[in-house]
Amino acid sequence: MSVLVVGSINADVTVRASRIPGPGETVLGNEARTSPGGKGANGAVAAALAGARVSMVGAVGDDAFQEVALSGLRRAGVDLGGLRTLDAPTGLALITVSDAGENAITVASGANARLTPAHLPADCAGFTHLLLQQELPPAITLEAARRASAAGLTVLLNAAPTRDTAPELLSLTGHLLVNEHELAALAGEGDFEASARALLQRGPQAVTVTLGGAGSLTVTAQETHRLPAHPVDALDTTGAGDTFCGVLTARLSHGDRLEAALRWAGIAAALACTRPGAQDAMPTWAEVLRESGR
Ligand code: RIB
Ligand code: NA
Repeated sequence: MSVLVVGSINADVTVRASRIPGPGETVLGNEARTSPGGKGANGAVAAALAGARVSMVGAVGDDAFQEVALSGLRRAGVDLGGLRTLDAPTGLALITVSDAGENAITVASGANARLTPAHLPADCAGFTHLLLQQELPPAITLEAARRASAAGLTVLLNAAPTRDTAPELLSLTGHLLVNEHELAALAGEGDFEASARALLQRGPQAVTVTLGGAGSLTVTAQETHRLPAHPVDALDTTGAGDTFCGVLTARLSHGDRLEAALRWAGIAAALACTRPGAQDAMPTWAEVLRESGR
């Protein structure tokens, strides 16, 4: 019933512009918006909004961006007993969102990059699920997976952003979540279902490929779930994948069957695309229920 998130905490500085600039180019945008982000914190907030009890292990710096970076976690009631304030700037993400709703993100990791296995809690007692991403140093992510898996937790890994994923980390992962680029980085180009099935051989019991407007594909040894995207007008997709991962984790920890959990995650992620920002855009559970027609 209880979710542990070990991951990044950022302040997002977002500018909307007609398009995303190429190398050497300048494009003009409107005002910058500052809002809470970070793939770890985004997943934690999404899980908390979906009703899970959530604890976050992460780090910020002692600076002006700390407050905005933590604001969403605080508002959502995420337990911050595992938060460290380290001698480095708070993580900062520079985000450009185009009129088409696409984004380009550069992350200045700051305090996130200073986290080591020594910052992990002594044990995982009281948690059933661990949600990881790839914005922290690989050593702490891997050690968190080792300890959680040894303690019997289910490990969910959102393999974003793309970076070398240690074979051991994959082998400790119960449910792997990737977008199509991350899937290609892990399993090579090719048919999504064949690639996802190939990844099942490397450890995970389930692999989900999120496909944006084309929904999601999930494979296990026995099942295949192809879920269409919940139809919305996408304004800003920042954090939609993180919302999907957080809500899926929350619903699985709540005891939902896989397909039901995937449906809730898909609705919440779609709603998160209809508003600007990452955590600021995430729907309340009442909105998800309303949107599902229940
Ligand atoms: O996935 C979206 C997130 O990526 C943003 O909130 C930004 O902080 C980066 O971590
Ligand atoms: Na959004």
